Amino acid sequence: MGATIDMYGGKFAYFGRAAEEYEARRLGRLQWRQEHRVIDKLLDTAASGDTVLDVPCGTGRLFPIFRKHSLRYAGADISPAMVDQVPSEYTDGSDFQGFTISEVERLPFEDKSFDHVVSLRFLHFRLPHSTGVTTMTQLCRVARKSVVVQVRIADRKLFGRVADRLAEIVDARARAPVEVTISCWRMLRRVQQTAGWMLRRLGRRHAPLAVFTGDEIPDEPMERSFAPTESGFTEMVDSLGFTVAESYGSVSRWSSVRIYSLRPKGAPRS
Ligand SMILES: C[S@@+](CC[C@H](N)C(=O)[O-])C[C@H]1O[C@@H](n2cnc3c(N)ncnc32)[C@H](O)[C@@H]1O
Repeated sequence: MGATIDMYGGKFAYFGRAAEEYEARRLGRLQWRQEHRVIDKLLDTAASGDTVLDVPCGTGRLFPIFRKHSLRYAGADISPAMVDQVPSEYTDGSDFQGFTISEVERLPFEDKSFDHVVSLRFLHFRLPHSTGVTTMTQLCRVARKSVVVQVRIADRKLFGRVADRLAEIVDARARAPVEVTISCWRMLRRVQQTAGWMLRRLGRRHAPLAVFTGDEIPDEPMERSFAPTESGFTEMVDSLGFTVAESYGSVSRWSSVRIYSLRPKGAPRS
C-alpha cells in the first residue's frame, strides 16, 4: 500500500473565482446538460416528498430538478464559496432542508438519513483510492433507497489511459500542489517507450512541479487513483449492501466517467 495523499486538488480548487465562475464556464457543455437529463430521468421513480442529499452540491445546479420532482433536498460541500453561489430562489422554499459544510469522506449524518443521495463530479477527480472507497462507503451509509454516483471507471484501452494520465498532469499543474499518482508515472514511462518525443517535450517545457523525474520516483509508491474497473465497482457496491440498477456513459470522447444508480440489495425494482 502506498502513501496516502489527502490533498487532492478538488478539495482546494473551488474557492474565489473558481467558485464564482463555476457554472458560467460549464453551462454550454453537452456533458453538463447530459448529466441534468440523467438525474432528471433517474429521479422519475422517486416518491414525492422523499428526501435527497446532494453531495458535493457545489452551486446547487441540481436543486431545480429535485424541486421539479417534489423532493425535499439538502446540500453538503466542503466549500462555503461554492454554496454561496447557490441562487436564493433554490433555497427559499420549505422543500429546501439546508446546507452542511462538510467533507464527503466524513458526512455528519446518521445512517440512512436520506432516501436518496446524489453525487456528481466528485469521484471523477483523481482521488486517492482509499478516499474513493471511503466516499462510496459514506454515500451508501447515509442513503436509504438509492445512491446516484458518477465514477471514473478504469479504461483498459491504451489510448484512453494515456489521455487520462495526461489529463492528470494538466490537472496537477493547474491545481498545485497536487502530485501525480504512481499510475500516472507508470503510464508516462509507457508513453516514453512509444512516443519519446512527446514526453521529452512535456518534460522540458511543461513539466508540472510535482511530477517526479527520472530516478526521483519515491521509494514508497504513491497511492493509486480511484478508478475501479466496472466489475471491481460492482463488487465494491455489493460489499456495501447495494446493487447497480442502471448506468449511463458520458458524452465525453476521452473520459470513462459513468453515472450509476444504486439500490439496496433486495429492494424491489421500481
Ligand atoms: C466539480 S465540483 C461538482 C459540484 C456539483 N456536484 C456539480 O456536479 O456541479 C466539485 C465540488 O466538490 C467539492 N469538494 C471537493 N472536495 C470535497 C470534499 N472532500 N468534501 C466535500 N466536498 C468537496 C468542491 O468544493 C466542489 O464544490
